[in-house]
Amino acid sequence: MNIDIESKLLIVDDLPENLLALEALIRAPGRVVYRAASAEAALALLLEHEFALAIVDVQMPGMNGFELAELMRGTERTRHIPIIFVSAAGRELNYAFQGYESGAVDFLHKPLDPHAVVSKVNVFVDLYRHRKALRHEMESLAAAHRKQEELVQQLQHTQGELERAVRMRDDFMSMVSHELRTPLNTLYLEAQLRQLHLSKGNLASFAPERLPAMIERDQRQIRNMVRLIDDMLDVTRMRRDALSIQTKPVDLAALSRAVVENLHQQAEAAGSVITLHAPAELRGVWDEFRIEQVLTNLLTNALRYGGGKPVEMVVRQTDGTDKTGESGGMAQVAVRDQGIGIAPEDQGRIFEQFERTADSHKHAAGLGLGLYITRKIVSLHGGRIGVQSAPGEGSRFVVDLPLDATDATEVPGSDKEKEGTQT
Ligand SMILES: Nc1ncnc2c1ncn2[C@@H]1O[C@H](COP(=O)(O)OP(=O)(O)OP(=O)(O)O)[C@@H](O)[C@H]1O
Ligand SMILES: [Mg+2]
Repeated sequence: MNIDIESKLLIVDDLPENLLALEALIRAPGRVVYRAASAEAALALLLEHEFALAIVDVQMPGMNGFELAELMRGTERTRHIPIIFVSAAGRELNYAFQGYESGAVDFLHKPLDPHAVVSKVNVFVDLYRHRKALRHEMESLAAAHRKQEELVQQLQHTQGELERAVRMRDDFMSMVSHELRTPLNTLYLEAQLRQLHLSKGNLASFAPERLPAMIERDQRQIRNMVRLIDDMLDVTRMRRDALSIQTKPVDLAALSRAVVENLHQQAEAAGSVITLHAPAELRGVWDEFRIEQVLTNLLTNALRYGGGKPVEMVVRQTDGTDKTGESGGMAQVAVRDQGIGIAPEDQGRIFEQFERTADSHKHAAGLGLGLYITRKIVSLHGGRIGVQSAPGEGSRFVVDLPLDATDATEVPGSDKEKEGTQT
């Protein structure tokens, strides 16, 4: 039992000497006694305080004790306060029993027997304290229960996240293995074939005019594997926030021409022609290697998902504002294809790692890392990337870069925001 629970007692009597005598009897540590010289004064106190017990004189001028009790029973706030009536005449008690079945009621007779007063009051005060302590415990229990439910929810959430992470890791491992297997298998088969030719003395297949093509085939498979491993390393660095850019003066127009040239064979294999519209020169300060990666990723996608139709790249200077709202020269690279296109609901998520559209699997193998890396690099340069596309109508990816990315600050979280269609 919590002895800190304070009990307020109300005594109501029209005679001051009675009030004083009663107070002296029932006063004790942990109790506060309030005196009221009339029923009206008692009502005022009842509205203000929470009482453990009211000791009410029955005979008072004006409103008598029973009438006060009736009012108390009629109000929710005071209905449950136990009442001890103090009366001189035994006959009043018959009346007293009527209408007070609900709630605790007791009686004391004048002249008061101090022992009876003290023991009755003790019983009610104890009851009150017990009830209070119980309510307090129930509230603590309810709070603990709520807390527990919150924790369970948190746990379930964490468990969900963990399961998702494990699933992602497993998916990733199987994708990587599959992606590495393809070029490795090709190389392995080539090697076996060559061994067979050698063992049969078939040296014609190693004739000088055949060698360049043979080496090119090997290099292509090796390049694929290197690119895959580089992408995985980049993603790991990004996760640790360890990917940084090293800027220096770059001619974006010349870089674009070189990238298109490098992809010449890949374009041919895809049956597409890449047309480049670029000024003679577009100078800026960027991380050349990383920007090359951006251009390559966008063009590779356009070739992969471009349905063998023409691909167009436009490089130009604009005078837009950068993503921090600062105005100044910007460089813009737009890559447009006429391929499978991207549904509006996919246009945000394709910039997340491992996200690919359902369609893409039919067209090309891939890890779904290219655009994630691209967006991160663009963001590190203080730039932005967006896409305009409709299924079956091709896609247009647009990258805007500040001309000087030396002091570019990546706007926090901006590389994670949903990139929608640019207008
Ligand atoms: N030009 C495009 N046209 C249609 N869909 C595209 C285009 N570019 C990207 N996508 C969609 O976005 C997805 C994500 O592209 P992303 O470059 O990140 O990965 P990927 O090409 O699948 O694999 P990789 O990691 O090898 O680049 C693609 O799988 C494809 O579904
Ligand atoms: Mg890609």
